[in-house]
Amino acid sequence: MNWLNVFTISKDVHWVGVRDWNRILFDALIPLPMGTSYNSYLIIGEKKNALIDTVNPGFEKELEGKIRKLIDPSDLDYIVMNHAEPDHAGAIPHLMSINSKAVLVTNTRGAKMAKTYFGVPDDRILIISDQDTIDLGGKTLRFIEAPMLHWPETIFTYLHEDKILFPCDFFGSHIAKGVYDEDFDDLLVHAQRYFGEIMMPFKSAARRALAKIKDLDISIIAPSHGPIHRNTQRIVRAYGGWANGETRRKATVVYVTMWKSTEKMIKPFIEALMSEGVEVSLHDLVSSDVGDIVKDLVDSRAIVLGAPTVLNGMHPLAFYAAYLVKALRPPTKFGAFLSSYGWGGGAKKQFQDMLGNSGIDVVGSIEINGPPSEEDIEQIVGLSKTLALKIME
Ligand code: FEO
Repeated sequence: MNWLNVFTISKDVHWVGVRDWNRILFDALIPLPMGTSYNSYLIIGEKKNALIDTVNPGFEKELEGKIRKLIDPSDLDYIVMNHAEPDHAGAIPHLMSINSKAVLVTNTRGAKMAKTYFGVPDDRILIISDQDTIDLGGKTLRFIEAPMLHWPETIFTYLHEDKILFPCDFFGSHIAKGVYDEDFDDLLVHAQRYFGEIMMPFKSAARRALAKIKDLDISIIAPSHGPIHRNTQRIVRAYGGWANGETRRKATVVYVTMWKSTEKMIKPFIEALMSEGVEVSLHDLVSSDVGDIVKDLVDSRAIVLGAPTVLNGMHPLAFYAAYLVKALRPPTKFGAFLSSYGWGGGAKKQFQDMLGNSGIDVVGSIEINGPPSEEDIEQIVGLSKTLALKIME
């Protein structure tokens, strides 16, 4: 297993994670155009050794081999489970089977999950609380409760002497390649996409966590997906904006069209928006990547949905998009809906029912029969200009 790559991020702190180059979906939902990584970190203290998070099921032997390049896995004293989701905790049973002394470090909620998902017995769990510490000998771990980032049990681990924050999912990105943030000019684009997919529904929890770590002296942020941040202020600032729901003068426009009538409504709508100075991101639901749509929703002030009626309701792709908008709770303030039907409407009513209590102010909905007439286009442009005024306020 000499081919296995490990690297040192600080003295006696080593990356022993794995890269999942070929994974195409996360949670059977989120496309991963750049794969992902499962970062695991080995900290070698003067008295004790600790592993921060493990890796996805299927990579247990690779993780074991990497640890073995640095220490005998039976010399691990602590396995810190920042988060119980299997992409980070899935190798815990294997490590505990080849090591008879290591204890799993987690909080009360994590302990229950570790027993349920991974069969970890009580006598091999060390339950910690917020701000508890463990001394490894010259390396001190501090645990920071950060619930809902992204499950209820989530904690961050801070390595005091090296000023390294291990926040697991938080500050992550789904990228298999690269090591540090300097490797990517466009890292914030990937991080924004990841924030939208994973963190956006939990913006208030993100704000609480950011407030908690505000006064921590952090030199390195080592998340459990994607590159390690050495320019820590850049990602912390970006997260501050996203978590606070800061939006741009921007509209995300998503649509699906069957016989081009809805598309003929969308085109004048976006032209009118842009003529008023609104930034527009357009996504055809047939070919778009849902992660790209979600990335745009992170900082869009408005969402425009275009959908024909199919069997008395929205086209299923648009129904899915509307559901995602509701579930992911973007900071979007305004909305509009455009629809064409062939022989019977219903999409507009379904849209209003779905997003009625979402907190999005639906500025207007237009539902027409067949392709838009000149009068319809005038109405569509009028609605677009009304929406643009709201966005530009
Ligand atoms: Fe990367 Fe919530 O697991």
